[in-house]
Amino acid sequence: MFKPQVKPELNDIPKHIAIIMDGNGRWAEQRGLPRTAGHKAGLQSLRDAITVCILYGVPYLTVYAFSTENWSRPSKEVDFLMNLFEDVLKNETERLHQQGVKLNFIGLRHNLKPSLVQMMESCEAKTSANDKLTLNIAINYGGRSELLEVTRKVAAQVKAGTLEPEKITENEIIEHLFTKGQPDPDLLIRTSGESRISNFLIWQIAYAELYFADKLWPDFGKDDLAEAIEFYSKRERRFGGLKL
Ligand code: IPE
Ligand code: IPE
Ligand code: MG
Repeated sequence: MFKPQVKPELNDIPKHIAIIMDGNGRWAEQRGLPRTAGHKAGLQSLRDAITVCILYGVPYLTVYAFSTENWSRPSKEVDFLMNLFEDVLKNETERLHQQGVKLNFIGLRHNLKPSLVQMMESCEAKTSANDKLTLNIAINYGGRSELLEVTRKVAAQVKAGTLEPEKITENEIIEHLFTKGQPDPDLLIRTSGESRISNFLIWQIAYAELYFADKLWPDFGKDDLAEAIEFYSKRERRFGGLKL
C-alpha cells in the first residue's frame, strides 16, 4: 500500500519529471505472456505516476510511450501499441480531465493513423484549461528529429531574412521545441535497469538528475516514484557553479 512519506519541502519537489517507461516486454516474457500484455500492464504504473505527481504537486510529467526508433519493431507490436494508445485515450481522458490533467502530445504526428491524431487533438482540446498537472505523452518522439525540426524552422527564418545568424540564441531553439514554455525536466527516471537515454528529450535533460531503477515499468509503483522524488530532493544541484 502506498503511504506517502512526509512530503519533501516544496522547493525540493521537481517541477518536471520525465520517465522512460521501459521493461514492459520483459515483464510479460517473464510470465510467459505475449509482449503486448506487458504494454497493457504498464498502464497502471502510468496512472499511479500521475496520482503521485498530483499529490506531490509536480506540475509537469513527460512520459516516453513510443520512440521514432520503435517503428522498427514487428508490425504486430506497433499496431497493437497504436490501437492501445487510441483505446486508452478514449477510455481514460474523462478521468484525467476530472483530475485536472492537461494533456499534451509531443512528437511528429504526420505518420500516425489519422484516427489516433484526431483522438489526440480532441483530448488536448478537452483538457486545455486544466492546470493541476501537464502530462506530455511522447508518441513518435525522438530528440534528434525534434532538433531537426527546430533547425529547419530556424533556417527558414534566416532564409526569410527575419533572423540574423548572429542573433540565434538558446531562446530561438527553445521556442520551437515541443516543450516550449515548460521548465526543463529536473528528474529523469528510466526503469528496467537500462542506463541510456534512447533519444529522449536530449536538449531538455542537459541538467536533469538521472535516476535508473531496476524494476520493470509494470512493477514500478507509487512507492517507487516517491523514492525517486526523495532521491531528487537530496541532490545538490550546481548548474556548473559552486555550492553557495
Ligand atoms: C517500453 O517497454 C515500451 C515501449 C518501448 C513501447 P519495451 O517494450 O521496450 O520492453 P522491453 O524493454 O522489451 O522489456
Ligand atoms: C525507449 O525504450 C522508448 C520507450 C520507452 C518508449 P526502448 O526499449 O525502445 O529503448 P532501447 O531500444 O532499449 O534503447
Ligand atoms: Mg525496452
